[in-house]
Amino acid sequence: MSYRIVITGAGGQVGRFLAAQAGSRGLDVLALTSSKWDITDADAAGRFVAPGDVVVNCAAYTAVDGAETEPERAHAVNAAGPGHIARVCAKAGARLIHISTDYVFSGQFDGAPRPYDIDDPTGPLSVYGKTKLAGEQAVHAALPEAHVVRTSWVYTGVGSDFVAVMRRLAAGEGPVKVVVDQVGSPTYVGDLVAALLQIADRPAAPPLLHVANEGAASRFEQARAVFEGVGADPQRVQPVATEDMPRPAARPPYSALSTRDLTAAGLTPPRPWRDALTEALANATGEGNK
Ligand SMILES: NC(=O)c1ccc[n+]([C@@H]2O[C@H](COP(=O)([O-])OP(=O)(O)OC[C@H]3O[C@@H](n4cnc5c(N)ncnc54)[C@H](OP(=O)(O)O)[C@@H]3O)[C@@H](O)[C@H]2O)c1
Repeated sequence: MSYRIVITGAGGQVGRFLAAQAGSRGLDVLALTSSKWDITDADAAGRFVAPGDVVVNCAAYTAVDGAETEPERAHAVNAAGPGHIARVCAKAGARLIHISTDYVFSGQFDGAPRPYDIDDPTGPLSVYGKTKLAGEQAVHAALPEAHVVRTSWVYTGVGSDFVAVMRRLAAGEGPVKVVVDQVGSPTYVGDLVAALLQIADRPAAPPLLHVANEGAASRFEQARAVFEGVGADPQRVQPVATEDMPRPAARPPYSALSTRDLTAAGLTPPRPWRDALTEALANATGEGNK
């Protein structure tokens, strides 16, 4: 299937990886950073989107704590911006894949927690989560067949994401405190991008999907797995409660995502999170301690 893939937020961790992977698969790629395409500019999409394109919106205001004090900016990027893109895609006859988040869920359960399915009720706790949910709604209001892809705890292993930070701490000494009461689905960017490219190839893929590595882990467990993976002593990672490490934005205590809907749609669900982490650490080590 031949199409051009147009990527917003191409300077971010997902956008960069997607542009590289799409390019290496021989796709025609137009990758635009925020300086080229500011998605809050309602007219900008019209300058870049052509009929038949597959637009992947990787642009977002992702500073979860910062959104608490910049709600208008977060809304402009996470809710209004995706709406502008969806309207232009609808008019141009282009497809849209829009990325959303596990933070649209509250993580509060009456009984035992279980991974969220696509039709579970949302209930974001933070400004970031609320604006991302509003973005999902704006996209589907303008283009009901757009693919909204919720993912969670995305990492590359290099730069400043959680796994990269843990790698650096593992190389040092002494104890490292990590929250034990936030549980989610750690997701390797390479596996997310593979699923995005599969969805790009499938116009009939469902309008709402969860893409995350299989399984659930607390941040504490994830950190210990990183230490183990790089040959450091995992016992150095010590559990701490969220209430002892207060942050401006509330995080869901449990936000693992079920990929049952992906399997049902004939798409390939990402592998278990520990397998993905092993590969990510090998790749990150190969790139040096960035
Ligand atoms: N990372 C995670 O753990 C995670 C988890 C769940 C969902 N997601 C979702 O995954 C998607 C990709 O996130 P990411 O992890 O790649 O985040 P990221 O590394 O922070 O990248 C976001 C990109 O969006 C760009 N951006 C911000 N405002 C923009 C605007 N007005 N117009 C155009 N571009 C703009 C940023 O550019 P500048 O730096 O130039 O501002 C940045 O390059 C987002 O939808 C995010 O909500 C991420």
